[in-house]
Amino acid sequence: MEHDCANMAVDAMRRVRQARLYRSDPVPHDVLTQLLEVARWTGSSRNSQPWEFIVVTDPEMLRQISEIRTPINWVAGAPLAIAIVLNGESAVSEAHDEGRVTERLLIAARLLGLGGGTAWFGDEAQEAQGKALLGIPAARAAHSVVAIGYPVTTRDHRPNRNIGGRKPLAKLVSHDRLGEREG
Ligand SMILES: Cc1cc2nc3c(=O)[nH]c(=O)nc-3n(C[C@H](O)[C@H](O)[C@H](O)COP(=O)(O)O)c2cc1C
Repeated sequence: MEHDCANMAVDAMRRVRQARLYRSDPVPHDVLTQLLEVARWTGSSRNSQPWEFIVVTDPEMLRQISEIRTPINWVAGAPLAIAIVLNGESAVSEAHDEGRVTERLLIAARLLGLGGGTAWFGDEAQEAQGKALLGIPAARAAHSVVAIGYPVTTRDHRPNRNIGGRKPLAKLVSHDRLGEREG
C-alpha cells in the first residue's frame, strides 16, 4: 500500500507540467497555507533560507504583472501568484534555491489537484518593473512569480509555444564518465 502511494506520487511528479490556464475558482486558504509551508521547508544553501514570499491575489496586480512581458500574459487569468523575493546576496546559490522552491511549489500544487506555472519577469528592466510593482527594494532580487490555480489544461496555449516532450534517457545519461553510454 505504501509502495503504491510512493509510485503514485512519483508518477504525479513526473507528470508535473506548466499550467497556464486556470478556472476562476480561488485557491482555498488552507491549500495556500500548505503550499507556503512547502516553500518554507525547502532546503537552501547553508540553510540560509534567502527568501520571502508575496502572495498576490489582487486581479489588478496580477494583470499588471502579466503585462511585463508577452510570454507571461496568462498570469492575468490566475487566481493567485506567489512572488519569490530573494535576499540578493549571492546570485549563484540563490538561483539554485529559487529553482528548488519553485519546483516544490509546482509539485505540491499538482499533488493537491491544482496546477502552477512559473512566470519570469525577463530582462533587467522588466525585473525592475516587477520589483517596483510588488514593492521590492532594488537591492533585493526577484525574477519570477509562480502562478497557481485549478488548471483548465496544461497544454501550452501560446502562439509561440515551446516544443513539448523530453530528450530520451539514452541521450542524457552517462556512466562513470561523460559520454559513456550503457550497453
Ligand atoms: C527559468 C524558467 C523560466 C520560465 N519562464 C517562463 C515564462 O516566462 N513563461 C512561461 O509561460 N513559461 C515559462 N517557463 C516554463 C517553461 O517554458 C516550461 O517549463 C517548459 O516549456 C517545459 O514545459 P512543461 O513544464 O509544461 O513540461 C519557465 C521555466 C523556467 C525553468
